[in-house]
Amino acid sequence: MNKPLGLIFAATVLATSMAHAFPTKNITLVVPFAAGGPTDRVARDLAEALRKPLGGATVVVENAAGAGGTIGATKVARAAPDGHTLLVWHIGMAATTSLYRKQAFKPLEDFEYLGMINEVPMTLIGKPQLPANTYRDFENYIRANSGKLNLAHAGLGSASHLCGLMWQHAVKLNNAMTTIPFGGTAPAMTALIGGQVDVMCDQTTNTTAQIEGGRVKAFAVTTPKSLSSHKLLKDYPSLQEMGLKGFDLTIWHGLYAPKGTPADVTKKVNDALKVALKDPEFIKKQEGLGAIVVTDKRVEPAGHKAYVADQITKLKTVIEAAGQFAD
Ligand code: MLT
Repeated sequence: MNKPLGLIFAATVLATSMAHAFPTKNITLVVPFAAGGPTDRVARDLAEALRKPLGGATVVVENAAGAGGTIGATKVARAAPDGHTLLVWHIGMAATTSLYRKQAFKPLEDFEYLGMINEVPMTLIGKPQLPANTYRDFENYIRANSGKLNLAHAGLGSASHLCGLMWQHAVKLNNAMTTIPFGGTAPAMTALIGGQVDVMCDQTTNTTAQIEGGRVKAFAVTTPKSLSSHKLLKDYPSLQEMGLKGFDLTIWHGLYAPKGTPADVTKKVNDALKVALKDPEFIKKQEGLGAIVVTDKRVEPAGHKAYVADQITKLKTVIEAAGQFAD
């Protein structure tokens, strides 16, 4: 049945008029961890790279730390769905939904997925005074001092917490170390360098400089294979190479908007993200810290969401196996 021309014209006008002016004010990237840490680092580099493709918009970073990242995530889930408040978060989006059985948001329902940003290996590190210089020494020392040492992390459900949980479970040393939460691994790193805490597992984006400076000791990386192309980290074995069969933990970061953010706005942000991910300056900064910028179908909202859904399933098994919940 042919629609009268007037109707088609009206519909077109309406549709285009539905296009939202964006951005109309500063864009805030919410980082659910303390300033100076690995997620903050990714967000600040991304804010730089997003400015131009977003038409010179001012992109600022706001830190809203606590509860392993769930406080900042809840803030964005409840923010105005107009594209001006976005979330930069990592594997916590997938892990916390199993760790926190009473969570204030649903990762696959309360957010618009805007694309993945990067993948970051983790490193098992210790305070400079820790009497161990190889991974074997390290594992034996923890085993011999079970219950006497502590493990710093950025809150239940954070990447550093998840790594500590998975490592202790893999070497059958569950609860061998007292866990000490911080608002992020930036303050945790300060405590480690100062010798106030003993051990941490953290993203290379936060550890590379400290290892290079000899301020912390490193023992292993969490990727399946050692990082042979990384000038500094190539000397450290992977946990799999040390006999931890199947141990594989790489931290991924993604960009999110509140559910209900208009499709034309999320498209503008995703288009800008794809430009930013190809920015040589952004890539150089990330790779210098051992991170890999995502280039596959996960830069698209659908690919990003499918990946997170798959990670939720995978991590649910790991967390239930470790049998430790946040609530
Ligand atoms: C941070 O930015 O502090 C980290 O991403 C925290 C973590 O999850 O370990």
